[in-house]
Amino acid sequence: MGTRRVRHRHTATPHRYVLAEKSNATGGGGAKNRSSPAASNNATSPAPAPPAEPSKRHRSHRHRVRNWIIGFVVGSLAGVISGLVLSVLFRLFLNYVRGRYRTRSGVTIFTPKLIRRAEHLAFLEKDDGLASLAVIGRGGCGEVYKAQLPVEREGEEPRFIAIKKIKKHGGDTPNNLSDEESRQLDKWSRQIQSEIRTVGHIRHRNLLPLAAHVPRPDCHYLVYEYMKNGSLHHALQGGGGGGDDGTSSSSGGAAAGLSWPARLRVAVGVAEGLEYLHVSHRPQIIHRDLKPANILLDDDLEPRIADFGLAKAMPDAHTHVTASNLAGTWGYIAPEYHQTLKFTAKCDVYSFGVILAVLATGKEPSDDFFKQMDEVVGLVKWLRRVMLAGSHAKAIDPAIAGAENEEQIVLVLRIAVFCTADDPKERPSANEVRCMLSQIRIHQELV
Ligand SMILES: Nc1ncnc2c1ncn2[C@@H]1O[C@H](COP(=O)(O)OP(=O)(O)OP(=O)(O)O)[C@@H](O)[C@H]1O
Ligand SMILES: [Mg+2]
Repeated sequence: MGTRRVRHRHTATPHRYVLAEKSNATGGGGAKNRSSPAASNNATSPAPAPPAEPSKRHRSHRHRVRNWIIGFVVGSLAGVISGLVLSVLFRLFLNYVRGRYRTRSGVTIFTPKLIRRAEHLAFLEKDDGLASLAVIGRGGCGEVYKAQLPVEREGEEPRFIAIKKIKKHGGDTPNNLSDEESRQLDKWSRQIQSEIRTVGHIRHRNLLPLAAHVPRPDCHYLVYEYMKNGSLHHALQGGGGGGDDGTSSSSGGAAAGLSWPARLRVAVGVAEGLEYLHVSHRPQIIHRDLKPANILLDDDLEPRIADFGLAKAMPDAHTHVTASNLAGTWGYIAPEYHQTLKFTAKCDVYSFGVILAVLATGKEPSDDFFKQMDEVVGLVKWLRRVMLAGSHAKAIDPAIAGAENEEQIVLVLRIAVFCTADDPKERPSANEVRCMLSQIRIHQELV
């Protein structure tokens, strides 16, 4: 057993030899080596496979590295160039989609659907460009003019624009301005810059977009689509004619004062516009001057919130803006603003609550009705008292009073009281107000 074991140990071919044999099998001596393993021990060690020539291998390696570097550089360059080209194209595309372009003279057109050619506004580049135009209104920033755009095709409906002129600081104004006048001009200048930045790219059916901006040495012209039914302020007064300028209106709806369904539609539309500014638009936008004069009515009496002169785009992190100048209009300003000088989204909700009260009562805060009272109570306090006393009928505008509307009007009055709570935390958000008003509207449509 022991011998066999020893022999076996001797005859066993070490693993490395088997490998060597196999590698030489094609060399012709393989069979011989296999039959006599011992001989293989004595045979001259098998010739190793000739190694690749080192210089050749090295050269091919260098070649490969060089190709990689060239490929990397060319690829990166191509990537950077195509990235740049794509970003330029994307910007052009965005501008096209937003309908915004700028001419050499500095005129910026935001809505080419209305202002089809820059030449249509060329008259505004002349010194006496506004001389022949009708003034349709006057606001804190200056006059508003009405102009007709050139008719391009025969039979085309005439298109009108409203041009708001805003004086620039240091333009045609004398240099010896008082401090107060300088401050006022600075304020206007800030308002206009803010308005241009904010309004230009905003699109919502209940917001009046800025159609174009024409800079002049002494002033800015802001161009809007002309709203022939004028402002809500005018409509509630039932003033003659269609718009604030007294020109005739084909619909006549606004001129005759607004029916309750039309007022509810205005309330829902303004709430939708406000919800867009507060909730959907990022960063959040606070209007800061919501009032009936800043709600314009289009041909179908759909409301459009106008005048973003006081709007400020706010970074998400901040819930308020600190006003360096006073904002808002008397009667529509939230009480806390007088102490804090911070205009928050809840201040807009307060102003909107006053608008709801105006829609339902037919009385603006400046109404003589409140001046005639023994005690000084404004619209908000008066409404609160009337509602608390349960004498709703007293609050409802006689022009819309009627059993069929009463329930809805009382609901809107309650929302008005809710929105005008003294404590801003108790007021609903724009989103909540829109939901409540939409429910009333849906109910109205079902009845
Ligand atoms: N696009 C428009 N279409 C029709 N009328 C307009 C248009 N824009 C403004 N108006 C009218 O011109 C008048 C003056 O507007 P403007 O915005 O200058 O002042 P305001 O809104 O009355 O006050 P504020 O300066 O506080 O905003 C308003 O009565 C308004 O209804
Ligand atoms: Mg206005």
